[in-house]
Amino acid sequence: MNRRFLAALGGAVLALSLAACSGEGAGGGSSTGDKKPSSLTIAVSMPTQTSERWIADGNAVKQKLQAKGYKVDLQYANDDIPTQSQQVDQMITQGADVLIIAAIDGTALSSQLQAAADAKIPVISYDRLIRDSKNVDFYVSFDNYKVGVAQGTALLVGLGLLNKDGSKGSAKGPFNIELFAGSLDDNNTRYFFNGAMDTLKPFLTDGTLVVKSRQTKLEQVATLRWQQETAQKRMEDLLTSSYNDGTKVNGVLSPYDGISRGIITALQNAGYGPAANPLPPVTGQDAEIASVKLINDGVQNSTVFKDTRLLAEQAVTAAEAFLQDKEPTANDTETYDNGVKVVPSYLLPVETVYKDNIKQALIDSGYYTEAQVASGQVK
Ligand code: GAL
Repeated sequence: MNRRFLAALGGAVLALSLAACSGEGAGGGSSTGDKKPSSLTIAVSMPTQTSERWIADGNAVKQKLQAKGYKVDLQYANDDIPTQSQQVDQMITQGADVLIIAAIDGTALSSQLQAAADAKIPVISYDRLIRDSKNVDFYVSFDNYKVGVAQGTALLVGLGLLNKDGSKGSAKGPFNIELFAGSLDDNNTRYFFNGAMDTLKPFLTDGTLVVKSRQTKLEQVATLRWQQETAQKRMEDLLTSSYNDGTKVNGVLSPYDGISRGIITALQNAGYGPAANPLPPVTGQDAEIASVKLINDGVQNSTVFKDTRLLAEQAVTAAEAFLQDKEPTANDTETYDNGVKVVPSYLLPVETVYKDNIKQALIDSGYYTEAQVASGQVK
């Protein structure tokens, strides 16, 4: 046998084994198009069950996929990065056909995503963009910058500086405000903060709004893992350090309902609440039921409603497209650069909810019942 023949033989063997890998490997990626849904598994990795919104997301995705006949492997990672990495590793080795991931830390899953790509498993980044990896195939989320704009606007409305229709309000200020942001390892955090700060900026510049603590940088106001207790502690510290001279906090920018509830608890413990010393407007996000009740009771000012049913629907639509060997339809192919590439995205709109539109936005749409809003519980 001459050398050329051997080289050709080697090439043929390699080609054959590669073909076998792509057809039969974990996920079996390329050939899912003609398989029955009941033989396909969609793995869903969610960050935590301590926040009600992710439970709602997980349930909605699972339900919609199961209704179409797919098998679903839904895992929660307890807000622990190694746990999520391990769960995703396992999803890959167990042969998931598509991965839907809401990351805890947007930069921590690169090696898992490489393994997914090697096994030809498409990856959909759910609500939080996974960064620093070329192996993110699609992103489903909301318009996160607009969420921040909505939060900044709600604070201005709460203070009476703006009316809900966007016209100038009757209040004059100056008002003392404090700022809170989300977790720095979540790609969304910057979008929310930038949207809010761009909205508040003119009022900060002309002195209508004053951040009395002077903590205005994202790094100073961030809340690791979005935790309620961490936010409560920071608000307590702010009250002690910057408001012990009798001045009042007139408003608080909060990026998420759990954080809002921590802030409100700290304020209430410090005596805010009664008519003589009213709670300042505190914003929010996610329309978590506990916060919707607080809004209904006049305790929390507002929240930004992101309909998890619609997000789940988009994730399912994208997953199905991949399973049929198609590209999902994006409505944004410019905004979400994950550090390596611009990830094609489907972004949904958001709606600000105040006390007076709880019924229209949340009850009439079937998201919550009146009884749930009154009790503050989903069960
Ligand atoms: C963000 C998400 C928000 C909120 C927050 C805390 O990534 O976009 O809606 O849920 O996490 O869980």
